[in-house]
Amino acid sequence: MASGLLLLTPHTVFGYEANTAVRHGLLGCGNRGSSVAESFARNTPARIVALADLFDDNLASGQGRFNALNASLGQAPVDRKLLFRGPHAFEELADSNEVDLIQISTPPFFHVQHLEAAVTAGKHVYCEKPVGIDIAQAKHALAIAKHVKSSQSIDVGFQCRNAPPIAALAERIKAGALAKIAAVSGNYNAPASIEKKREGEGKDEYRLRNWLWDRVLSGDILVEQNIHIIDLANWMLGGHPLKATATGGRNILTHYGNCWDNYQVDFTYPNDVHFSFASTQFGAGGVFDAGLKLFGASGSATCPYAGPIAITGSNAWSWQDSQATLPGSGNFAANGAFPDNLKDADREKVRTFIDSIISGPAHNQIADGVETALSCILGRMAGYQKQEVTWDQMLARKEDWQLGFDLEQFA
Ligand SMILES: NC(=O)c1ccc[n+]([C@@H]2O[C@H](COP(=O)([O-])OP(=O)(O)OC[C@H]3O[C@@H](n4cnc5c(N)ncnc54)[C@H](O)[C@@H]3O)[C@@H](O)[C@H]2O)c1
Repeated sequence: MASGLLLLTPHTVFGYEANTAVRHGLLGCGNRGSSVAESFARNTPARIVALADLFDDNLASGQGRFNALNASLGQAPVDRKLLFRGPHAFEELADSNEVDLIQISTPPFFHVQHLEAAVTAGKHVYCEKPVGIDIAQAKHALAIAKHVKSSQSIDVGFQCRNAPPIAALAERIKAGALAKIAAVSGNYNAPASIEKKREGEGKDEYRLRNWLWDRVLSGDILVEQNIHIIDLANWMLGGHPLKATATGGRNILTHYGNCWDNYQVDFTYPNDVHFSFASTQFGAGGVFDAGLKLFGASGSATCPYAGPIAITGSNAWSWQDSQATLPGSGNFAANGAFPDNLKDADREKVRTFIDSIISGPAHNQIADGVETALSCILGRMAGYQKQEVTWDQMLARKEDWQLGFDLEQFA
């Protein structure tokens, strides 16, 4: 099915000379999904026309939130026939000829399955990271990428690349501001995620709602959350690691689940560039700090989520607006809408994506998304195995994780 654009009365929306609205369907009406969908609605000509979710309560809260938002923007409520619930909601949404763009904001385990349905149906897709939680999914996503038509645009949710201070820094690093880069360090220290509990739920539902604690559903913290910093490293270094060694474990957490609560990874990139990455995810206290530092022959660069973004040395530069914030002063945002250096990231990301749909050229970010997911999987594999793993050894592994229960029970 080809996706078309709905013609509306010409008017200017946030600088777009727009006579088009992109009909937007949200798949997964949770925390992040709703935040990104709202950013589309407020900052672009995309209009929420359809909602889909596995669970009644989450679909209903999406309906309430987006009908109120649509009303405040002078738009119609979501048509009841475009509300899809249950394990086949993603297929019904993909089958609808009243939707142009599908935003995939379901737990990571489902991303590739949902991406396949949306791409096959000819939709534009905004797919949250990670694109694949294991080797089998990552390879499947690469096969899906080959079927994307030139008229389809596909983005992956690495909004940090679109944060203006980070984009400005990356441009300078790629232009050689640091000269030869020798070493990179990065960290992602975040609080624990909050338990979700519902009266009378079974163990599979509990697991699904607390997917962040579950390796198979999330990919573990390195693949699910730390991926943003590893993506920035790949982006600034212009490629993926060739091998990794890692340690880590589940040293503090005692609640349900099997994700690790800390990782220490040493990635080796081409030209013997080392990226030393450390992460933690536990504790209710306000510890939140994430960022990247790059060290080169002519200077160093700092790229935190909060705090000054700058280059020292012979090509010294700094992003003026981030000078006022203190290192580590940012608050953690479970919905990904971070303050400080990332405050405009979502807005810029969705605008750039909608521009690619309306004016072209179309994006196809699946292969880049897979490259970063595989980089994280490499670190995770090295950690679980407690030995060095090369990129080729990783790709040769038959890692194919199973859910272990039937989603049909939620039909
Ligand atoms: N880019 C970022 O900064 C960022 C930040 C947070 C989360 N995320 C990503 O966004 C995604 C969603 O995260 P969240 O925090 O919104 O989670 P969430 O648990 O708040 O929401 C997930 C939603 O998906 C629904 N769902 C679960 N399985 C489904 C299925 N099989 N079919 C249809 N619906 C299903 C759930 O009912 C829920 O409403 C994840 O992939 C996460 O990694 C990205």
